[in-house]
Amino acid sequence: MHDPAALQSKHLKRFQSEPSIFVAPGRVNLIGEHTDYAEGFVMPAAIEFATLAAISPRSDGKVVIYSENFGEEYSYDAAALPRRREERWTDYPMGVLAILAGEGHTIPAFSLSLWGDVPVASGLSSSAAVEIATALAVSHLVGAAYPGPVLARLCQRAENEFVGANCGIMDQFISANGAEDHALLLDCRDLSYKLAPIPHSVALVIANTMVKHSVAGGEYTTRRAEVEEACAVIAKHRPEVRFLRDATVSDLEKWGGEMSPNALKRARHVITENTRTLAAAEALMKHDLKKLGTLMAEAHRSYSQDFEASCVEADAMVALAQDLPGLIGARLTGGGFGGCTINLVEAEKAAEFAEALAARYTSEIGIVPQIHICHASGGAHRVS
Ligand code: GLA
Repeated sequence: MHDPAALQSKHLKRFQSEPSIFVAPGRVNLIGEHTDYAEGFVMPAAIEFATLAAISPRSDGKVVIYSENFGEEYSYDAAALPRRREERWTDYPMGVLAILAGEGHTIPAFSLSLWGDVPVASGLSSSAAVEIATALAVSHLVGAAYPGPVLARLCQRAENEFVGANCGIMDQFISANGAEDHALLLDCRDLSYKLAPIPHSVALVIANTMVKHSVAGGEYTTRRAEVEEACAVIAKHRPEVRFLRDATVSDLEKWGGEMSPNALKRARHVITENTRTLAAAEALMKHDLKKLGTLMAEAHRSYSQDFEASCVEADAMVALAQDLPGLIGARLTGGGFGGCTINLVEAEKAAEFAEALAARYTSEIGIVPQIHICHASGGAHRVS
């Protein structure tokens, strides 16, 4: 778990300069998958796994970045920072610097130490946590106070334009704007949002299939292209449809035949997922946990069968959870093709649930999963 004091003293020892410390969380998405870039709805929560960033100014004109996780240090000339990715972990912080420079900030010389415990390539937004922590730290140094939604947009741009991953806004948004004990229903069109309390009687049990997932990988990009193909077909008939957010199931019934079979299925997932996400937020706000669980089950089916973004292991993890005591709802969370499932579980049964699920998954799949009992945490902030 985070230890800002430990990072502070390591930074001080390495760079001989007292740092300011910032924290940015990873996230788990309760529902609303591959809807964000279609200007639809998502309902994630920030989690305790996070990135910590320690920053202090330097006087030698250099930007020096150290990763506690990788044990690697890279040094740049602050006046000549890279403009394109270098295919390593530094792309995330350097992408943020490139975007901040593009916003008119002169990037000063500084030392930055990064430490994180968001499991990497697990669909829990480790990259967004690094971007948001870096953006908060550096904007503090240059005296800019960006509101959370703006910070999220800048970091999404870092990932799209510098890292080269075509992600939507969800991960950066929830990392910057999450609220303790709440899920956040985000309208990805105008970035308006509502917080939905997660009752204390409900635990977020995150089950890692241990199958690696990557947003930069080809599958995410292919799915996004198929979603856009479906939208373009509908837009030929209804020009006001700019994103699948504007489309309906009846549009698919009318014009689905003009799309590739894959585009039709992907679009059906996105369109029905938007409806489910709104219904899930309402169910959570009304404490209708049964309804919420049913919607999560439907969402998983749609994600697995129509969007074809699941995998044998994730389908097994969801199926094996079904009759365990305490389960409210389970589905694959995040970009897909591996990573974690999110299980909403009655808090008092969560420990037993986690143990039983791990045992079942190990015996069925032959891989020991990591299972974490989490609660929704607050968004990114400076650690005092
Ligand atoms: C990844 C992306 C997000 C979103 C999800 C799928 O996490 O970074 O923008 O598209 O996949 O819902």
